[in-house]
Parts: sequence; structure tokens; C-alpha cells
Amino acid sequence: MTGPATAPLQSVLHPAGADAAIIGQFAWVLFGAGALIFVAVMALLALSLRRHGRPLRARLWIGGGGIVFPVLVLSVLLGWSTWRSAGLAPQTSAGALAISVTGRMWWWEVNYRDPASGREIATANEIRIPVGRTVYLGLNAADVIHSLWIPALAGKRDMIPGRVTGLTLRADKPGIYRGQCAEYCGIQHANMALHVVALAPAEFDAWLAAQARPAREPAPDGLQLRGRAVFFEQRCQNCHTIRGVAERARLGPDLTHVGSRLRIGAGLLQNHRASLAAWVANPQALKPGVSMPAASGIDGASLQALAAYLEGLQ
Ligand code: CUA
Repeated sequence: MTGPATAPLQSVLHPAGADAAIIGQFAWVLFGAGALIFVAVMALLALSLRRHGRPLRARLWIGGGGIVFPVLVLSVLLGWSTWRSAGLAPQTSAGALAISVTGRMWWWEVNYRDPASGREIATANEIRIPVGRTVYLGLNAADVIHSLWIPALAGKRDMIPGRVTGLTLRADKPGIYRGQCAEYCGIQHANMALHVVALAPAEFDAWLAAQARPAREPAPDGLQLRGRAVFFEQRCQNCHTIRGVAERARLGPDLTHVGSRLRIGAGLLQNHRASLAAWVANPQALKPGVSMPAASGIDGASLQALAAYLEGLQ
């Protein structure tokens, strides 16, 4: 498994890219101004309670505090935020690395174009990007409205069925940035997460080249070979593609290099042999409502073999 060994970051207040820094500044200024005004209003309230019935100049306070002050404050904030927003990156794929992301109930399909062959490379729930390069995510949804939000890198963007939207982002330092679906999309909306892994450009190129290759052959020890047979016995190929092995279905995530991903189940579980086995055995117990059915009539040995095969798909 490659990638920086850092804990995933999911915070508007810890920006790791230029646009996220501007959005983080908005958050601080609005919070600061709001806090100041709240304290001032509370001070005025305390003062008024100590006046013991002496009359206030009502017109002055209503006109000044209720009309002039908010108009002034909101106008200044509007002017400042409009000026600052001009610094956000343009939402265009020109000159950017283009990656397409499709929201599904409840996972993310991610597609790259192989720079060598021009063929499409499909992966899921993980977007790897090169540090310092502008990336344009072309966004779409396959079923209902989703919304992509990676707080440390950029703002939110809705993903709407039948419509292509886009989001520009750039990571300025290597790291793992957690993202989240930000539009309620059904029972497992909360378990629709993804990770953006920002790598040094050379590392990214090596990763993409590895992803472009067809699935790795099972190890000759027999266990993974048996696992590949179980994949077909369980009819996994009816929903999943493994390039070079079974390529006709695209209902579920492409599993060609599933072993190389950080997590499975759209952020739900760490990715290792035991969690793969648990997931295949009964996904409904881990993520109720998910499209994937439980493995049927599978014995323990076959389950372990299948998990070993999937883990080996690096
Ligand atoms: Cu997808 Cu919420």
C-alpha cells in the first residue's frame, strides 16, 4: 500500500489547498464577526437591565441597531467576500488533470484516463492526485442527487443525475484528505465517504501506471487461485469488473486493484483480508440497504480464499 502515512484530514479549518484556504478564511471572518456582534448585543442587554426603567431612545436603537447596522455589516461582508471569491480557481478542465467521479447509492465511482493508452481506468471511493497540480473533477450522479465535499481541499459541489458539474481542486501538500457525501441520499448517506490521497507527482505517475495494468495473477500458492474460482462461483462477475478476468458488469465497484485501496465499503472499513471476508459474507449487516447481497452458501475456506484473492489484487 502506497501513500503518505498520515491520519485522514477532514476539516475546513485545516486547508491544504488554495481554494480551501480562501473558504477557511471566510469561515473564520464570519465566525469572528458573528462572535463580536453577539458579545456586543449581550453587553447592551446587560446594560439595559441595569437602567431600571429609564426610557431608551427607541427610534435611535431600532433604526440604528435594526436597520443601519445590519445593512452596513452585511454590505461590507458581501463586498469583501465577493472580492475574495475572485481568487478562487476557475471551474474549468483547461490545463487540469481531469478525473470523473460518479455518485452512486452509496459509493463513488472514479475514472481516470490512462495517459499511455487513452483507455479508461475505473476505481472507487479513492481519488489519488498529484500534489501541486490543478485537478478538475467532472461530477455526475447515477441515481439520486449526491454532493461531493472534501473540506480540506475545496468547497462542495452537487452531483445531479443527467447533468455534469465540475469541481476544481489542488492539494499543496501530500496527505490523505477525507471527503463526504454532503447531500442526503438515503439510508447509508452517512457511510458514503471517500479519501483523496495527494502524492508526489512521480509517485502519482507510478500509481496510475499500476492502476492501468490488468489484474495481478493469483499467487501460485493455491489460495488466491481458489479465491478467483470462488469469485465466479458466487457470481461476483455479474456486478463487478476485474480487468483481465471478468469485464462485463459495472454495477458495483471495479475490483481490478481493490487490494491497493485504503478502505472498503466507501470509507466504512479498513481494507484487509479479514474486513474483505466480513464484507463479502454479509454486507447487509455492515451497511444495511446496500445493493450487494450476502454471499450465498459459502463455506469458511472458500470465503477466506476469496478474501485472499481480493486482498492480492494490488
Ligand atoms: Cu450520497 Cu449522501
